[in-house]
This record gives sequence, structure tokens and C-alpha cells, in this order.
Amino acid sequence: MADSKIEQLLKKREHLLKGGGDKAIEKQHQLGKLTARERLDLLFEENTFRETHLFIKHHCTHFGIKDREFPGEGVVTGHGVIDGRPVYAASQDFTVAGGSVGEATARKIAELMDAALKTGDPFVMINDSGGARIQEGVDSLSGYGRIFYRHVLLSGVVPQISIIAGPCAGGAAYSPALTDFIIQVRHKGQLYITGPLVIKQVTGEDITAEQLGGVESHAYYSGVVHFIAENDEDAINITKRLLSFLPSNNTEDPPFLPELYDEEILPDESLNDIVPQDSSEPYDMREIVVRVVDRGDFMEIQEHYAPNIVIGFGRLTGRTIGIIANQPKHKAGVLDIDSSDKASRFIRFCNAFNIPVVTFVDVPGFMPGVQQEYGGIIRHGAKMLFAYASATVPKLTVVVRKAYGGAFLAMCAKSMGADTLCAWPSAEIAVMGAEGAVNVLYRKEISEAPDPKVERNRRLEEYKDTFANPYFAASHGMVDDILEPAETRAYLAAALEVLKAKRELRPQKKHGLIPM
Ligand code: HXC
Repeated sequence: MADSKIEQLLKKREHLLKGGGDKAIEKQHQLGKLTARERLDLLFEENTFRETHLFIKHHCTHFGIKDREFPGEGVVTGHGVIDGRPVYAASQDFTVAGGSVGEATARKIAELMDAALKTGDPFVMINDSGGARIQEGVDSLSGYGRIFYRHVLLSGVVPQISIIAGPCAGGAAYSPALTDFIIQVRHKGQLYITGPLVIKQVTGEDITAEQLGGVESHAYYSGVVHFIAENDEDAINITKRLLSFLPSNNTEDPPFLPELYDEEILPDESLNDIVPQDSSEPYDMREIVVRVVDRGDFMEIQEHYAPNIVIGFGRLTGRTIGIIANQPKHKAGVLDIDSSDKASRFIRFCNAFNIPVVTFVDVPGFMPGVQQEYGGIIRHGAKMLFAYASATVPKLTVVVRKAYGGAFLAMCAKSMGADTLCAWPSAEIAVMGAEGAVNVLYRKEISEAPDPKVERNRRLEEYKDTFANPYFAASHGMVDDILEPAETRAYLAAALEVLKAKRELRPQKKHGLIPM
């Protein structure tokens, strides 16, 4: 008797674990995609995944699905172990009714998110779905509402990562949008609010689904996607690497790697040769970043979006740091709307998860222009000020070269709360650039001079001699030290060590009002 019950269980389980069945699995493979379960197998350490609610069923009686079975309700949910730490994951099963989300599907996912919140473990969502299950009407819609609501509850408490491994259309795209990081699989993942057909109807524009919601669209133009993956395996590897930098929740510090802490820090003379003599010449800021982080291991985020600012994770003496750096190679490293959005969101992520921020400054200013002003550079640039000033994690700033005006403040000057700020001898720290300043201060003198060009150059040199160096700012207490670049890693490591116990209290409030 007992044996037949066990047999029944094993049979039922075997059937359900097949999801949409062999044919649908074969189709998924033919499309170059892994199944929901294969993705989870890659994500978790062997034999650590524990599935929840495999046996759940929908109770919908509409549109002929009353007696239709959707194994697992189109999503595989559960928890497992990654790098020795528990992680929760939901993986949509496209082989079951296109991974569509019914009321029971949403209940599974929401319950998992509640558990992640209670135990303080990261949540990973693998998206591959046609969206809300149309037959279930508003029940599936409100199911999505339940998921969105929980993304917000989890935000800032546990890291949330989304993989876009297939379609992710309509309102469903807001699930990943509410998470911290989005990884999209090239040619497989598509993310959009309204598809090509609706767009054609409403605006008359012709566009393919890939052009609209593929990686080109989101990793380069919209900034919605943080990482491009070449395939499912790559997406999983990116997820694991990302998690390796992060704490499990906001009450913990990120993982500490003692073997890196013990490595001796020697001066790196190659840092002395990166910044060109001519201060208008570009260089690649990443050359500096990779020399400062442990073993050159830098995980860049949103590499292709707003490349005039570089953001990402690295480690310093075994501790995770978040790096924000102007990139003189693109638009001279200027701060504009997109780069301000990109950096300020990242600063807030670091602050929420106890990750010190290290800022490398080479910024000529905010981007001038009618489009920037009409687009709200004031509001977007203010996000940088808000994000840095409200961050209470250790804040370390290195002025590499240009640090002009409000853009310098927006890159975490001392007055904006930097705990330590060092400058390289190539630093130029001033209220505004020489060209603009001379035009304002000496317009009359220049126009009335016997040779206006000579007079202008003389005034320019005078201004640069006074301000285009780190010494004036240092003499006014705005720079803690002026360093030989080769010493930067040692300087930052010592600063991080002393700041690791930093605690900063702020006035009680419900929340501030970041200029959104
Ligand atoms: C129910 C769905 C479904 C859905 C797909 N299916 N999407 N069932 N509800 N939303 C089913 C199909 O009927 C089919 O079932 C199976 O999944 C596979 O779908 P195909 O169309 O055969 O696959 P493919 O050609 O690869 O196309 C995939 C797709 C397409 C691009 C995702 O299915 C599609 O456009 N689906 C609808 C997308 C959409 O409009 N979603 C919005 C829903 S409303 P069978 O039985 O034939 O295998 C919404 C509101 C917002 O999301 C909710 C959040 C706020």
C-alpha cells in the first residue's frame, strides 16, 4: 500500500518535472534556449536546489482552461546555494503555456519573495514568458501586482537580479525594471512595454521585436539593461559573479576575501604615466581603475550606456567597493542626463548594501546645451548630489585631473561628504574652467587690449597657474593629500581600513525626496 503511494508520488513528480513535455522542451532547445530547470541547475551548486509548490494548480474556469493542466503553473520556484550562500530563484517555464503568469503562478513567486525577505537572501528571477495568462484575466493581472509590490518591499533589503532569457513583454517588463540588475541574453531576450504591432497601430512606426526590445535597444540606448549575456550559461555566470560582490542583505557586509587582504601593496609606477601631459587629451579611465582594484578584477556595469561615466564593482584588500569614474574617452567625461542617472542609481545601490564608494574624478563640467536643459539636466544632475550626500557608506574620492564647478561637487567633493579626498599632481580643481572664467572676468580688459588675443592668453595662463592645479584647493582644506599616482592603491587601502567601522547617523525621516 505504502509502496503504491510512493510510486504514485514519484510518477506525478516525474510528469510535472517535464513541464510542457518532451516536444515543448525540444522546441525550447531548438530555439537555442535552456529550459527553466536547466537554468536553475546551472545557477545552483549541485543538489542544493529545493523546489517549492511543484504540485500547485490553477482554479480558473474560463476560456477552456478549466481542465487544462499547466505543470508547476509555468514557473519553477525554490532556493539553493551559490558560493556557499542561500539564494532564492524563480525561473519561468516557457514550455508551459509560454511561461504565462496565472494567479497561482504569481502566488508561488510572491511567496518565494516573502521568504527571501524573511531570511535575508538574494532573489533571482529568470524571465521567459508571454506575460499575464490571458485566460485568467484580472486574476493574473493582480498576480503581477503582487509580484511588483514585493519587488518594492525587497528593494534595498536583499539584492534582486533579473535575467531576460526570452520574451518579457507588456506590463511584465516592470518586474525586472523594479529589480537591481538586469542581464539580457542576446537574440533571445526581448523586453518591451508595447510590441511592434501595437506600435504600428498607434504611431505608425515599423520596427521588429528584436530592434525594439533586444540588447542593442536596452544596453546601449535605454539603459534598462545592465549586462549583455551571449547565452543562458553566460547569463548565469554573470549572475554568480555579480552575487560574489554583494552581501546577502542590507544588514550584512559584502563577502570579505582574506587572501586578498594579505597581499602586499607595492607602488604601481605605471599609474604615473596614464594621464597625458596635455590636459585636453583623452585617456581610458579604466586603465586607472583596473590598476587600483585587487588583481585587476573589475566588473563593469552598463558598459555601453552613457559611457562617459564608468561604474562597477571591484575589491580593495578583499573588500567590495563600488567605483564611479568619469571617462575622458567619451564626451570628455562630462556629466549629462544619462550619466547622472546611471551613476546616482549605482551610488544608492552601494549605500543600501554597505558597499564603500570610490570615485575617480576627471570632469570638465555638466553638459551644456538646449537639449540637456530641456531634458532636465538640473533635475538629473541633482540626483548625483542627492545620492552622494545621502550615502553614509565610506566615500573615497580621487581627483585625477579636471574637477570643475558643480560637476566636481556632484562627483563627491569633501563638502558633499567625501570621507577622504586625494588629488594627483595633474588635478585641476576650480569653480569653473579657464576659458569660461576669463570670458566672464576680463571681457572688458580683453576687448580693450591692443592685442585682444595676447591679452586673453595672458589671462588664461594667469588663471590656470592659480587654479588649474591641486595646491590652491589643498591650501583651502578641500584636499586631504596630494599623491604620486603610484601610491593610490596603498592610500585608498589605508583609508578603507580606517573607514570600515564608519557609522554616520542622519535625522529621522520617512524618506527624502530624490529629484526623480
Ligand atoms: C496565455 C500564452 C500567453 C499568454 C503565450 N501563450 N503567451 N497563453 N497567456 N500571455 C501560450 C500560447 O498560446 C502558446 O500556447 C504557448 O504559450 C507558446 O506561445 P507561442 O505564441 O506559440 O510562442 P512564440 O511563437 O514563441 O511566441 C511567444 C510570444 C507570443 C511572443 C510570447 O506567445 C505572444 O506574443 N504572447 C502574448 C504576449 C502578450 O501580449 N502578453 C501580454 C499579456 S497581458 P500553446 O497552447 O499553443 O502551446 C499582460 C498585462 C500586463 O501581460 C501584466 C503585468 C502588469
